[in-house]
Amino acid sequence: MFDLTGKTALITGSGRGVGAGIARALVSQGAKVAINDYFPDRADDQVNLLQAEGATALSAPFDVTDIEAVKAGVEHIEQNLGSIDILVNNVGTLPHGMRPTPFLDTPIEDWPKHVDNNLYGTLNCCRCVAESMSDRGWGRIIAISSDAGRVGHYGSTVYGAAKAAMEGLMRTLAKELGRKGVTANSIVLGLIDTVPEEFSTGAEKYFSTGRIGTPDDIGAAAVYLASEEASWVTGHSLVVNGGFVGT
Ligand SMILES: NC(=O)c1ccc[n+]([C@@H]2O[C@H](COP(=O)([O-])OP(=O)(O)OC[C@H]3O[C@@H](n4cnc5c(N)ncnc54)[C@H](O)[C@@H]3O)[C@@H](O)[C@H]2O)c1
Repeated sequence: MFDLTGKTALITGSGRGVGAGIARALVSQGAKVAINDYFPDRADDQVNLLQAEGATALSAPFDVTDIEAVKAGVEHIEQNLGSIDILVNNVGTLPHGMRPTPFLDTPIEDWPKHVDNNLYGTLNCCRCVAESMSDRGWGRIIAISSDAGRVGHYGSTVYGAAKAAMEGLMRTLAKELGRKGVTANSIVLGLIDTVPEEFSTGAEKYFSTGRIGTPDDIGAAAVYLASEEASWVTGHSLVVNGGFVGT
């Protein structure tokens, strides 16, 4: 079950963190992976790690908010790894980091950064792969969302709204593409150990499982949604949050 041999996956923002965990998980099931990141050195480093373990991996650095860069990146991947079967829209946090900021203290000029990185980045990538997936009659599109979009988090208003929009996009794509063999789902994350320690220290108490998450927890969920076995799962938001009980 969950065999991805021969499939090509693009994971955005996978030069580190959750995306890197998703890439490792897809590789472990046989997929070829394109490692995208805003920072080329992060993408290159991940590719070197994966290749050292025998994986077929390609560095594909580009900014997902730039549609022309996405188009060129997708072309580069298709030429080197074949058509993209699995797209994981993992980009979300801003390239230069972000801190929780209450809505009324968030500068208005910062709003588009979150919407661009989450919603427009996802729209751009979906636009560049969905047609080919539909023509070939098989595809998996996954968006990485957050409890900030599902239940709200203090200090994450615009980011949370953009995450909710990503989930809405998956639900509508699911309706349009379902009969073409393409599914579109979201994975809704709780706190993962990729955040700076100042945000994770003592946070275990907010989770029924008594721990915060890891990129491997999310990788396993991505493998499932990317698999043939999940062909009847679409338009779904899969909550993988260790049983978040609220703050
Ligand atoms: N870490 C958490 O606790 C948590 C919780 C909920 C949801 N999430 C979501 O999980 C995803 C991954 O989070 P993470 O903690 O691994 O983040 P991270 O910052 O550790 O890694 C994200 C990577 O994405 C890259 N990136 C950012 N903007 C980009 C762009 N425009 N184009 C290409 N690459 C870009 C960054 O350079 C970075 O290497 C994000 O969507 C985030 O919103 C994370």
